[in-house]
Amino acid sequence: MGKEIVESGYNEIAEEYLKAKNEDTLIFAKKLEEHLNSGAKILDAGCGPGIPIAKHLARNFQVYGIDISAKQIELAKKMVPDGNFKRANMLDPGFGNETFDGIICLYALIHVDRTKHLEILKRFYNLLKTPGYLLVCMQLEDWEGENEYLGTKMFWSGYGQKQNIELLKKSGFQIIWQKDWANPRDSNDRHLFVLCKK
Ligand SMILES: C[S@@+](CC[C@H](N)C(=O)[O-])C[C@H]1O[C@@H](n2cnc3c(N)ncnc32)[C@H](O)[C@@H]1O
Repeated sequence: MGKEIVESGYNEIAEEYLKAKNEDTLIFAKKLEEHLNSGAKILDAGCGPGIPIAKHLARNFQVYGIDISAKQIELAKKMVPDGNFKRANMLDPGFGNETFDGIICLYALIHVDRTKHLEILKRFYNLLKTPGYLLVCMQLEDWEGENEYLGTKMFWSGYGQKQNIELLKKSGFQIIWQKDWANPRDSNDRHLFVLCKK
């Protein structure tokens, strides 16, 4: 199943994933930041090793991170000593409703069975205070499958752009900004980034 492939895959490639990280995606953390006051509480869902997003946000905000991979959480704790990290599934993050001012979820929902995306987005909505902001990365194309990624087997799942926007609206969010972003360093990395408001 997808979940097991993703969890064991990221445990296996965590160090290599961290080595490959750069600061390109900080533009999305900065987009979210524009709407938050200093000291606000932010959840990084599927935080990976915490680089660059949690590390950057922890300078000004209270950062919490969850990831299904124990190895990624171990690295995040080391890389971002000011953050609060725990191993948890986005489907059951283990926080109360209205806990966070912001949620950022980059390149993580795309690894979860898409039939669960609506449930996760509703959960994100409930975790946010009002007003609260979500910055999420989703697929542009309708696709689900497995392939080789950094030398391990990986699972990906998502709907296309139009359906993703509908899912966000159905979860209660108001769309305030969206971008079809292509990573100039990697032609395979082209995704939909959406900033939404509760
Ligand atoms: C491509 S990495 C992205 C990490 C980080 N957000 C970034 O932008 O670099 C995807 C991360 O999502 C995590 N992940 C996948 N499915 C998850 C789930 N259901 N719950 C929590 N984390 C999950 C993986 O373990 C992995 O660390």
